[in-house]
Amino acid sequence: MTTPQPRRILSGVQPSGKLHLGNYFGAIKQHIALQNEGTCFYFLADYHSMTTVQDAELRRTLTREAALDYLALGLDPAKAIFFRQSDVPEVCELAWILGTVINMGLLERAHSYKDKVAKGIEASVGLFTYPILMAADILIYRSNLVPVGEDQVQHVEITRDIAEKFNRIYQEVFPLPNYRLEAAAKVPGVDGQKMSKSYGNTIEIFADGKPLKKSVMGIVTDATPVEAPKDPEKCTVFTLYKLFATPEELAALADRYCAGGMGYGEAKALLLAKIDAFFGPFRERRKQLAMDSTYVEDVLRDGARRARAEAMETMAMVRAAVGFAKE
Ligand code: ADP
Ligand code: TRP
Repeated sequence: MTTPQPRRILSGVQPSGKLHLGNYFGAIKQHIALQNEGTCFYFLADYHSMTTVQDAELRRTLTREAALDYLALGLDPAKAIFFRQSDVPEVCELAWILGTVINMGLLERAHSYKDKVAKGIEASVGLFTYPILMAADILIYRSNLVPVGEDQVQHVEITRDIAEKFNRIYQEVFPLPNYRLEAAAKVPGVDGQKMSKSYGNTIEIFADGKPLKKSVMGIVTDATPVEAPKDPEKCTVFTLYKLFATPEELAALADRYCAGGMGYGEAKALLLAKIDAFFGPFRERRKQLAMDSTYVEDVLRDGARRARAEAMETMAMVRAAVGFAKE
């Protein structure tokens, strides 16, 4: 009989800019909910960010900001192990070792690399080997569940291939990880396309006052006159309102769309009030956390200490398995 493995959940986020509603409903909300379902390892992927950001001060700032965002939104460092990827440099050693058991072909098929090359962006070696570092992230903590967005599924599949191959060539060291796709469908941006930093169509989680109002009032709607009935299902304002409203509130707003006589401005005002009520407390919490100059650093250091102990345990197994001198 095999003993069931403890559930280890792992995910990384690239510290790359201001978080938006799509990030929250598509990823962060689930990360936070999973804190109660196993041992969670969540990290800020600052090694990975080197494939796009090449400014030391900017990386430091973005990493701190992303940590504050997560902590304000409910990441509890007493439950999850929260750390900076670069505080566990052993992951780079594992990435090297894993790189020697897989073939070029596997990486040449990776979307993240293929897409950039197709757009004519010159790819660094780091961008090409990005999935190996991600595999090392997952395997070094012997994770079995990786909650990700759709764009990262292929990377988790590559990780399984790599783990399987390593286990076959050397010794059974790594559990094979599974991905878990985030439930929320695509959250639309103010222009109706998928909300994304790269499309400049976001509503930021931590915006408030005028800038928030400006984003919400700027949601693109059609030219149906105020008096005419409107189809709620075709309206971005309504789709976003769904993320916050109770079923009764939703039904009430749908009735008003269908009855006619309500302008989109009114629906936008209702949405704005919902966003404010929902994220207001998180914004306050973020302000408080930011006032404590050492809090974030203390949390990340403590997380790194715990993560590193796990990583070193795995590396001892890996080093023995590949024939390095025993410690
Ligand atoms: P962006 O597209 O703004 O650069 P990222 O690629 O950094 O966002 O995504 C971080 C996480 O948020 C991923 O897990 C991704 O699937 C999720 N996410 C991003 N945008 C959306 C969206 N519009 N709807 C749902 N989930 C999203
Ligand atoms: N590549 C992921 C992203 O861009 C971030 C990441 C790095 C990650 N290492 C990981 C996600 C390991 C899950 C598991 O979103």
